Amino acid sequence: MEEKEKQSLPEISIEQLEEGVQHVNNPIIGLKPIEKRYLQSVKECKQVNNSFYFTDGESTVEVMVVSDEIIRVRMAPQGTFLEDFSYAVPKLVNSATVFSLSETEEDYRVETNTVSCIINKKHFLVSFADNQQNIINEDLSAMHWEENVDFGGYYVYCTKKGHPGEGYFGLGDKPTTFNMRGKRFQNWNTDTYSFAKDQDPLYRSIPFYIGLKETTAYGIFFDNSYRTYFDFGQEDQDKTSFWAEGGELLYYYIHGPHMMDVVKRYHTLTGTHPMPPQWALGYQQCRWSYYPESKVRKLGKTFRDKKIPCDALYLDIDYMDGYRCFTWNKKYFPDPKKMVKELADDGFKTVVIIDPGIKVDENYWVYKEGKENKYFCRRSDDYFMEGHVWPGRCQFPDFTNPEVREWWGGLFKGLVDTGVAGIWNDMNEPAVFGSGTFPDDVRHQYDGHRGSHRKAHNVYGMQMVRATYDGLKKLYKNKRPLTITRAGYAGVQRYSSVWTGDNLASWEHLKLALLQCVRLSVSGVSFCGTDIGGFTGEPDGELFSRWIQLGVFSPFMRAHSAGDTREREPWSYGEEFEAINRKFIELRYKLMPYFYSAFWEHHKYGFPILRPVVMLEQDKIENRTREEEFTFGDKILISPILNPGQTSKTVYLPEGKWFDYWTHESYEGGREHTAHAELDSMPIFVRAGSVIPEWPVMQYVGEKDLEEIKFQVYHSPYEVNSFYYEDHGDTFAYEQDIYTEKKFVVKGDDQSLNIRQSSEGLYTPRYETYDLKLIGLPFLPKRIIIDGKEQIVDLEFDALKRVRIQANKNFKEIQVLS
Ligand code: GLC
Repeated sequence: MEEKEKQSLPEISIEQLEEGVQHVNNPIIGLKPIEKRYLQSVKECKQVNNSFYFTDGESTVEVMVVSDEIIRVRMAPQGTFLEDFSYAVPKLVNSATVFSLSETEEDYRVETNTVSCIINKKHFLVSFADNQQNIINEDLSAMHWEENVDFGGYYVYCTKKGHPGEGYFGLGDKPTTFNMRGKRFQNWNTDTYSFAKDQDPLYRSIPFYIGLKETTAYGIFFDNSYRTYFDFGQEDQDKTSFWAEGGELLYYYIHGPHMMDVVKRYHTLTGTHPMPPQWALGYQQCRWSYYPESKVRKLGKTFRDKKIPCDALYLDIDYMDGYRCFTWNKKYFPDPKKMVKELADDGFKTVVIIDPGIKVDENYWVYKEGKENKYFCRRSDDYFMEGHVWPGRCQFPDFTNPEVREWWGGLFKGLVDTGVAGIWNDMNEPAVFGSGTFPDDVRHQYDGHRGSHRKAHNVYGMQMVRATYDGLKKLYKNKRPLTITRAGYAGVQRYSSVWTGDNLASWEHLKLALLQCVRLSVSGVSFCGTDIGGFTGEPDGELFSRWIQLGVFSPFMRAHSAGDTREREPWSYGEEFEAINRKFIELRYKLMPYFYSAFWEHHKYGFPILRPVVMLEQDKIENRTREEEFTFGDKILISPILNPGQTSKTVYLPEGKWFDYWTHESYEGGREHTAHAELDSMPIFVRAGSVIPEWPVMQYVGEKDLEEIKFQVYHSPYEVNSFYYEDHGDTFAYEQDIYTEKKFVVKGDDQSLNIRQSSEGLYTPRYETYDLKLIGLPFLPKRIIIDGKEQIVDLEFDALKRVRIQANKNFKEIQVLS
């Protein structure tokens, strides 16, 4: 035996001998009881490239410099790390320019230009500071763990200091107050039919939050797919902790100091949503279920007859043959290809639902293929994972297996050949009737990293919709697919839009819809929406119209309802409501180019599409509890009406000057105002200096060729930038720079307004002219100079005090003078 090993043999004390211990090699001696164990003092540090390894002699902590502003921390209780694999972060590229390690008697410091990660030697506490040495986030106790005897591995814990007034935002779809301080949450994707306020968990797991300590924001992304928990000062107001039932304690510290910086940087890790087909930003009509074919046709015809714009009609589970995925019920839909084509000729896209449960049926080709190829999930003893869902007894593909994803993607060929334009993935938490979901012992391939359902549960839905998206992308060749999913994990935005699941027709849920969409947006999932009107229950006309109004400003705008409710289309509540619903759906189409540009800003730069006021002005303490105002993109602020009978409300406008969208009246920001909004209106404000593009109303995206493009230009005493984005609308050519991104810079004073334009990208729109409406001018213009050439004009204010001018789309500068 080696000298070293001999030394490590436990010695038997006299007391132990007296207690009856006889043998030196008694295996019980030296076994540590199962209890929470904490990191001990740091003994040494080693550097390998951009990673620094700190050890207390037994456990190891890796501090990895990911970028100047992002540091990853992970802990190996026994010194050996798990394989470095994540569904959320597909590729970790070290982009830090400069970083270094220094050591004092007390600490090690890993520093970039922006952040310091300080490791206190004595207690192994990890903290983060900015480059002014202000501590932003710090461990309260050392990272710890507890052995899991039943499953192996560890429960892993991280406890941070919480500060008085610290705000916590994010975590995806939690149906609760926007600031999560004082609450505890868990992440475990759950089918929650008719969920209630504060119910937790729901359908998605996004273990990422933004902390706002005093006026400085930072982010923590705990990339762990097991059941995770977050406590924001509920257990102890001076503590914020997060923990998981397995996997590694692995988190990213994301530096701010602005909330916007944190979200943008989170997107550099987990990606953004690809550009959707532009029609997917139109109004979409769904219901469980539109069938048979005659009903679907009548639905489409009614939209067109009533001139209510609509881009997509959805088919819920009843279009299938006995709920078998990838089949059609030929009694209800005898010739789906013909129907889909005729709907398409009338401007409607058809989107169909596909669930993960595959009916156990030896005569069903999907089941047979899955069975033959061993694509279905199995239990620990190799039995198939079987459970009941809509089709009856089902088996479930293991979407964490790349081969299964490839197969699944190819299954859409038939639907794509039929002309279907989008796929709706549901029940993918995964949901199983009776038991709720899969048992823990179900095995998953996990892209070669193997695991039980404990590890794969939260990523199952995301991998399903990934397979769907990738499959459709191949089949559509260069066309953009629309996918929508109910379940998801961090990074799901790379593959899909989401909706918030089975909500309820109530005013409380209208408010929750707002909270959930804004929260999802700051949690990386910008392309989100709710079932407009509420899935279960019956909204009255007023609630439905107010929900349509909120829906206009939800990135994903779809009405949906359960099968046991009364019909719920924009005309279902009589003429008065129909007119209101039409007006607001038309508004969605008018603002389409603005919404599309905001989407581009999300896709390209990682800006969240919806932004709460606390994100715009995080240094104002009172903004931490403001929940009803938010902006869509950068320029339009909305505060929907959320109560029955309400026709006015107090609206806070952030600093600067704002205009009422409807009346063009101007308002000073930095304070609250009373906004009036009868049922046919809603409070909408536009920032001074904005250039807002508008389309003519269309019944569907692409109905009309644009002969010119309209812009509403708002006067401003200070300089403001606006962006406008255009491309083909449905291809991936934008990835080859075939797009146009225009930047407008607006600045005015009492006597003038100056508009400058620059552009990049290779796309050339067909129209030649801009139709500009100048709003809020404090003078009547007498002279207009476009690119140095004076125009002869005789301008007048219209009824809304606007002045209209025209310019070539390539203008560089317009000077409007008194
Ligand atoms: C689930 C979905 C719902 C769908 C229904 C039938 O409840 O959340 O949107 O209509 O299943 O497919």
